Amino acid sequence: MSHFLPVVTLDGPAGVGKTTLARRMAENLDLPYLDSGAMFRCLALKLGRDAENLPEGELRAQCAQWTFNLAGRGRKSVLLCNGQAVGDEVRTEHVGMLAARIATVPAVREILRAVQRAIGEKSPLVAEGRDMGTVVFPEARFKFFLDALPEVRAARRLRELEERGENAELADLTEQIRKRDALDRNRAVAPLRPARDACVVDTSRLDIQGVLGVMLHHISLHGGRHALAAGMPSAL
Ligand code: DC
Repeated sequence: MSHFLPVVTLDGPAGVGKTTLARRMAENLDLPYLDSGAMFRCLALKLGRDAENLPEGELRAQCAQWTFNLAGRGRKSVLLCNGQAVGDEVRTEHVGMLAARIATVPAVREILRAVQRAIGEKSPLVAEGRDMGTVVFPEARFKFFLDALPEVRAARRLRELEERGENAELADLTEQIRKRDALDRNRAVAPLRPARDACVVDTSRLDIQGVLGVMLHHISLHGGRHALAAGMPSAL
């Protein structure tokens, strides 16, 4: 592929550490960071339960009320919905499940894909989600797919919750992760899978710093951050 966009994509299943890693990568490369899952979460929260069952026309009309923008870069990247920063209110497991459900609706994906493309065509970017490298930015310069077994991701989430003083059962977390994986991997439109040209990283035995190191090494082996400059032919 000789034409590419100056975009780094990070795709992978729930709980694999994408958000933290994308933020660190964006900081390292001094680029804006797009959390596409936060867009699905934000719409899911606004539209409420069973939105995936609305007639398409009504769903489109409801979605049209919300506009998304990206401000800042690196650690200071902020996703704005109608001018308001999208915050921790979208980060619950409940909203994650609602998001996974509306994310199976083709019209919702089409609407958000157009917004995500517009952001990526305006500025170099680190973009994180499920279909960033396969569907939204197939010409991204660097693509990563992060994976780990559901049990490993659930154990990590349990540690995070415990560190915040919250209680949870490992078996429940594993079950939630499996359910989300089933929705994300088996949907008809833009299912979760590695792009053909993605660098796949099994994060099971690595911590965040270790995964970041693997990804930055891959980038430096293939032209480094300069290779992200618009218009350079791909060396891959
Ligand atoms: O990454 P996350 O947990 O914030 O994503 C929440 C849900 O949104 C996820 O289960 C599926 C959906 N999603 C998607 O379908 N495509 C994306 N690019 C990002 C998220």
